[in-house]
Amino acid sequence: MTVIGIQRLHGKAERDNDDLVMKNQTSETKNKTMKIVVIGGTGLIGTKLVNNLRQQGHEVVAASPSQGINSVTGEGLAAALAGAQVVVDVTNSPSWEDQAVLEFFESSTRNLLAAEAVAGVRHHVALSVVGTERLLASGFFRAKMAQENLIKASPIPYTILRSTQFFEFAGGIANSSTDGQTVRLPPALMQPIAAADVAAVLADVAVAAPVQGTIEVAGPEPIRLDEFVRRYLSATRDARKVETDAHARYFGIEVNDQSLTPGVNPRLGALSFETWLRTSANKK
Ligand SMILES: NC(=O)c1ccc[n+]([C@@H]2O[C@H](COP(=O)([O-])OP(=O)(O)OC[C@H]3O[C@@H](n4cnc5c(N)ncnc54)[C@H](OP(=O)(O)O)[C@@H]3O)[C@@H](O)[C@H]2O)c1
Repeated sequence: MTVIGIQRLHGKAERDNDDLVMKNQTSETKNKTMKIVVIGGTGLIGTKLVNNLRQQGHEVVAASPSQGINSVTGEGLAAALAGAQVVVDVTNSPSWEDQAVLEFFESSTRNLLAAEAVAGVRHHVALSVVGTERLLASGFFRAKMAQENLIKASPIPYTILRSTQFFEFAGGIANSSTDGQTVRLPPALMQPIAAADVAAVLADVAVAAPVQGTIEVAGPEPIRLDEFVRRYLSATRDARKVETDAHARYFGIEVNDQSLTPGVNPRLGALSFETWLRTSANKK
């Protein structure tokens, strides 16, 4: 068992790699410290991931514009990547406007993959979202799909980790669906997860061999979207009320019980929503 008791099944991984190469890479990487560059290393997931990898003894660069490393302009990328074996992309776009978010993920991913080819990086890891291909009515998810497609088309060996919604995102969902004191949300099934559990799985993925495919990670229990936000608002003593509305949209998208939930055998985080609400929801 790993630190968060996750299933060690590789979910929906599509393996194209030669098994022998993977075995060799696994034994090569297992006992070695590596240089790992975390792009977006100052963000919610990035900060936790950087700490986790440093605790394991790896040399980690926490890259972001505030550190002089910008994946969109290319500033500082070549120097940051020199000698790195692994790059983990946990960036997010400052703007979620349709065109801006698409340009962000396309330019950032192209620049990263090009810089990785020059630096001889052997594993590109990116964090994406469970159900991305079912959510393409939203510009944000079209941008995440474009990011995934660029990674798949690149010669750099890769692993895409798709996560469900973070517990920490409950407030963002509430804000996007608020009208006055009312939050209108559909009762779609979801399986949210603690950011700390996502970061732990990412750390595990980053030091393993590339799977040349996609792995899913989700929280330990399913919950309905309206109930998820209702419980969050109640725990944070927010006066807004959640109204269940089957036709309300999630970031402009109609969602059903299949839209946000993972497929078979996702890796599972250990921390329950109940425990997170009690211990962390008010610390954000
Ligand atoms: N929210 C969810 O529920 C959810 C679920 C599944 C997957 N995801 C995915 O998880 C990823 C990370 O999310 P997060 O919440 O950790 O993001 P976040 O807290 O917003 O952090 C974003 C990071 O990206 C960095 N960044 C922004 N522009 C950059 C640039 N041009 N070059 C380099 N770095 C840049 C930021 O740096 P500064 O701090 O310097 O701006 C920050 O470190 C996203 O791709 C998202 O799609 C999210």
